[in-house]
Amino acid sequence: MKTLLTGGAGYIGSHTAVALLEAGHDVAIIDNFANSSPEAVKRVELITGRQVSLYEADCADKDRMMEILGKEQPDCIIHFAGLKAVGESVELPVEYYRNNIDSTLTLLECMKASGISRFVFSSSATVYGEDNTPPFTEDMPKGVCTNPYGWTKWMQEQILTDAQLAGCREKGGWKAPLSVVLLRYFNPVGAHESGLIGEDPQGIPNNLMPYISQVAVGRRDHLTVFGDDYDTPDGTCRRDYIHVMDLAEGHVKAAEYALGHEGAEVFNLGTGSPYSVLGMVEAFSRACGHQIPYEIGPRRAGDVQDSWADAGKAKRILGWEAKRGIDEICRDAWNWQSHNPKGYE
Ligand code: NAD
Ligand code: UFG
Repeated sequence: MKTLLTGGAGYIGSHTAVALLEAGHDVAIIDNFANSSPEAVKRVELITGRQVSLYEADCADKDRMMEILGKEQPDCIIHFAGLKAVGESVELPVEYYRNNIDSTLTLLECMKASGISRFVFSSSATVYGEDNTPPFTEDMPKGVCTNPYGWTKWMQEQILTDAQLAGCREKGGWKAPLSVVLLRYFNPVGAHESGLIGEDPQGIPNNLMPYISQVAVGRRDHLTVFGDDYDTPDGTCRRDYIHVMDLAEGHVKAAEYALGHEGAEVFNLGTGSPYSVLGMVEAFSRACGHQIPYEIGPRRAGDVQDSWADAGKAKRILGWEAKRGIDEICRDAWNWQSHNPKGYE
């Protein structure tokens, strides 16, 4: 199978490229490097010993997309490209809506014109909103998002679902019925076992694991834990942290599934097991061999107390489940961070 990965130089895309290549599939990547480096793609080639076609392009550039899709003629597109910083999306909502929604609309138009009909999309558990109670199941109603980034995911899911419905109808204009797979990620963390690729956030990390990693390697002084007065056993929020290579392997299964099915299907990609913030601090301290210094701060606006997946549907239908546990997650995150203290720089 030939796959085209938009945003494939980024954190999840680069790991997915490795998993696809190792499963024997071909990979082409489109990225504008807004939040990534071409070095990540070189390292994907180093890990796998295989070549990747790399295009520097913006997914919202219709002429370039038509040209690349025409040249590559992929069997499936996995659409990772997007801006993802929750706080920044509150500051720059127009830029977030423009980039994230435009990319998806442009891709759909170009796919339709090029006769490509398999689409796997990077969605987020954030679409469950604040009112559903975990474990989240795919048939729960989508909730109210707390920030523009979340709404872009919510809206893109809707756009893709509507396009799929139209694509099934005779007059939809699609040459083949559209197949859409919406993957709702929980909290992707960790790195490839080689330590050659990993998460490389620009500036001060927003997310817990890259922040802890940078404290561990001495780039930052201490972690601030956002609130210890939640209604949880240790007072800190709980999340479903999933190893990025498990997530990557979930994409291989999803792309293979998209090839053989029609319709729009949603899958959670999570482990089903929550860990608290302090639980993660302890696990990382074990992995790096010293205690991570932290202090308790106020709650962060927009945080939900609890979020974890019911991971049953992906297991039943895709035959996929997460295999790596919290110790492997922390070991691999530390391996990446300690060997690349400044990321790809
Ligand atoms: P990332 O920033 O590392 O990767 C996204 C990539 O898309 C980057 O390489 C960036 O340069 C590229 N990009 C952005 N806009 C583009 C455009 N218009 N044209 C071409 N390239 C563009 O992020 P990631 O963590 O790998 O996330 C991948 C996807 O998964 C995103 O859509 C993100 O919203 C989603 N997601 C991520 C998480 C997470 O915690 N990492 C959780 C849920 C969903
Ligand atoms: N946290 C801290 N200190 C930090 C950073 C985070 O205590 O410096 C806490 C947060 O308050 C939260 C937990 O660690 O309780 C996890 O926070 P992250 O920012 O790592 O992850 P989130 O669950 O907030 O966000 C993730 C993705 C988003 C996605 C969201 C919902 O990063 O893209 O899940 O699916 F929208």
